[in-house]
Amino acid sequence: MTSPAFRVQMCDACCCGTTEKHPNIDHQRQRDEIAAAATAGGGTSRVVDCLGECHASNVVVVLQPEREAEWLGWIVDDTILSDVCDWLRDGAPTLPEQIAPHRIDRTQPVEQTG
Ligand code: FES
Repeated sequence: MTSPAFRVQMCDACCCGTTEKHPNIDHQRQRDEIAAAATAGGGTSRVVDCLGECHASNVVVVLQPEREAEWLGWIVDDTILSDVCDWLRDGAPTLPEQIAPHRIDRTQPVEQTG
């Protein structure tokens, strides 16, 4: 059995996975699309509880061997969802320019935003 190329964690807790904060987002569809893209790219995915970055809404973490984890947030529209899925289908290489603004800087104090 080979190890997955990467592992995706998709937050599904109060600020990311429910309709209370973002009522117009179909969270299940997002999770399904990300999971399918991860599988296509050789990775795995799972839904997790709060990752502690609630200010960033719809948080996705991509873990890869011998690389820094990519923490992504504000996955709140179909454009960024599509970009993330394309990246995962490609095997999650270096983070593309269009996704970089969604990177969560985990070294800075957080400001509570959408
Ligand atoms: S609810 Fe998703 S990071 Fe806290």
